[in-house]
Amino acid sequence: MRAAFLLILFCLGASQIAPATDANYKQVTITSGTNYVRVRLPLTDVTGKVRVKEITAAGFGIPVAPSKTALGEKNYLEWQIGYDTSNPESPSAVPQIKFTRKGETKYGHELAKIVFECVRLGLLTTNDLIHELASLKQITAADFEESRPVQIEATTNAGNGFQSSVERLPQFTKTTPHGSVQIQLKQKQRAVGYQAMVYVCIPMTEILSLDGTPRQSAKAKSKETVLYDFNRANTPFLLDIVHAFGIASQQHNEDIQKILAGILESPR
Ligand code: ADE
Repeated sequence: MRAAFLLILFCLGASQIAPATDANYKQVTITSGTNYVRVRLPLTDVTGKVRVKEITAAGFGIPVAPSKTALGEKNYLEWQIGYDTSNPESPSAVPQIKFTRKGETKYGHELAKIVFECVRLGLLTTNDLIHELASLKQITAADFEESRPVQIEATTNAGNGFQSSVERLPQFTKTTPHGSVQIQLKQKQRAVGYQAMVYVCIPMTEILSLDGTPRQSAKAKSKETVLYDFNRANTPFLLDIVHAFGIASQQHNEDIQKILAGILESPR
C-alpha cells in the first residue's frame, strides 16, 4: 500500500519535470508579469508557425536550419501570429473575446490575448484601442493589400524549348526598433487567388532565453523554446501588428474590429 502510494507520488513528480512533449513544446504560450506580456515561441519547429530566417537587404528572409547555424545578429524569427481559434480551451485563447465569422463562433487567440493582457496591465490604454478601432473603420476596399495586383512578367522563350515567366508578389513591411511586421501576398493553398499573410519578425537580438536574459548567439538546442516580451517600450510595435491585419484584407479588418470591440467591452 505504502509502496503504491510512493509510486503515485513519484509519477506525479516526474510529470512535473518531464521534458516538454512534442505537442506542448510547439505550443505558443502567453503569460503575464506585472509589467510585461511574455510570449514563449518554439525555435526549432521549422515546418510550423515560427521559422528562423536570415536577414537580407531586400527584406525577403532566407530560412536557416536553426540547429546548424549560430543564431545571432543576422537572424530573426518569423512568426505567423494568429488572432482567433475555434477552441476556447487552447492555452493561448482568451475565451471572454467571442465573435462570429461566417456563422462560426471564434474566440480571441494569441494577438487577441496579448492585446487583452496589455490593456489589463495598463501597458495599452482603452483610448489606444478606441483610436485604432476608428482608424480601422476608415480603411476602404481599395486600400487592402490583398487587392493589390500580382504581376506576371511577360513570358519569354528560354531558348531551350521552355517558356520562362516571373510572378511578382508584393510584400509590405513596417519596421520598428523592436521588430517588424510584414504582410505577404501568397497563393491560396486550397482555393484560387491570393491571400494576405501577416508575419511578426523579431530579431534574435530581442529574443530572451527561458530565464528572461538575452539569448546569446548559439545554435538552437533540440526543442528549444525562447521568449519575447511586450512591455511599455514596444507597445507601439504591438499596435503596428494590429494595424497590419487591419490593412491586410477586408476579412482580417472585420475580425480585428470585433476583437478590439470585444476587449473594450470585456471586464478586466
Ligand atoms: N489569420 C489568423 N492569423 C493570420 C495570419 N498571421 N496571417 C493571415 N491570416 C491569419
